[in-house]
Amino acid sequence: MSAVRGEFSSRLGFVLAASGSAVGLGNIWGFPTQAASNGGGAFLLVYLLLTFLLAYPALMAELVIGRFAKANSVTAIRKLSSSSSTHSFASLTGYGGLATASLVLTFYAVVAGWMLANLLAAIARIAGQQDLTVWLSTNSLERDILSAAVFVLLTISIICAGVVKGIERWSTRLMPSLLIILVSLAAYVMTLEGAGEGLRAYLIPDFSAILDPDLIVSAMGQSFFSLSIGAGSMLIYGSYISKQSNLPRMGLAVAMIDVGIAVLAGLLILPAIYVAQANGVAIFDNAGGLVGGPAMIFSILPNLFESMGVAGNFVAVAFFALMTIAALTSSISMLEVPVSYAVEYHRMPRVRATWLIAGSIFVVSVLIILNSDWLLDLVVTIVTQYMQPLVALAYLLFVGWIWRRDQLLQELKSGCPDLENGWFWRLWPFYVRFICPLGILVIFLQSIL
Ligand code: PHE
Repeated sequence: MSAVRGEFSSRLGFVLAASGSAVGLGNIWGFPTQAASNGGGAFLLVYLLLTFLLAYPALMAELVIGRFAKANSVTAIRKLSSSSSTHSFASLTGYGGLATASLVLTFYAVVAGWMLANLLAAIARIAGQQDLTVWLSTNSLERDILSAAVFVLLTISIICAGVVKGIERWSTRLMPSLLIILVSLAAYVMTLEGAGEGLRAYLIPDFSAILDPDLIVSAMGQSFFSLSIGAGSMLIYGSYISKQSNLPRMGLAVAMIDVGIAVLAGLLILPAIYVAQANGVAIFDNAGGLVGGPAMIFSILPNLFESMGVAGNFVAVAFFALMTIAALTSSISMLEVPVSYAVEYHRMPRVRATWLIAGSIFVVSVLIILNSDWLLDLVVTIVTQYMQPLVALAYLLFVGWIWRRDQLLQELKSGCPDLENGWFWRLWPFYVRFICPLGILVIFLQSIL
């Protein structure tokens, strides 16, 4: 085991790093499109409810395991089980988290690469480089592989620098920039013709959709992915929090920032799509549904930017910079999971571990690019619909059923001495024992049947 582990230097450092992990393509792209195609405000309501009822308690489970063990995600889970009967389950859960984080990164790097390429395309357009602009903004094997490679290199450079000088430093720089860009873009788009209609589509709930099982399954998947749950990322960030910090409060701050940014992103994306419609861009497909997915980001929005003239070039730079930043603060939290394991468990030097693991992940990303017509969706489905919920469920079983309760209480009380008298201790243990595992199980079964 390595002698010195990193630790976030301040509470703010942790909150920004963990919300950087949470706020990603899932918030800025996934949430608004899901909301638009699932009953607008109805999806928003169910999403908010599920985030606080299921995802926040699950987030707390990961944070408290991490801070108790102060170790990588495999060692951490093993520390919770005292009997040999649960030891193999602990290993399975630990390695399951490791595999999940790594697999999320394989497809995340591909999609983030597209964002990066479009950011560079927007800059090339301003510089008058016509051919380069076209090359960068058009899908091709070379472009996709190269841009995913550059994105992975950025992730590597931050992770190599360690917890404080890499993760914390870059999260505290990038998260405020992200917020400023998002708020400015949303404010600007709101002034354009058509924005009001987008707002209505986003915010007015279609209550008839609220009990639709598909809506509930999508909202849960969205809230789990968005809070980075079931991949060990929050566990490992939890392991870098000081023992003096108030965990329930910091977890709540992260959940609120995550939800806040998702809601804000909806105030940008939906109005933008309807502004595009007002400018003559088709935004509904043949079946009458709103165009979501890649077409929305890489065709509808760029068409909108083009129709805005010179200002549109700068809006495009801001928009794709926003996406790239959001993706980067998330991808570092994925790579840290296997890297911390290799460093602590196999005593590998951090830089070597980072290059080796990120290199292997990149090889899978290239395979995904080479077979993007079927492999991309498959990996996304396997990871988000199966692996994340199952790993999250296993973490909850450890906290609710296997871990000694006096140890759990003691860990939570560190930094929060009057825990026993507050709402958190009255509700949360019951939640992690019964409500959350059951909720995840029901929704998981619903999604696979
Ligand atoms: N939360 C990130 C997003 O919303 C994705 C993520 C998943 C990050 C799992 C880390 C681990 O895009």
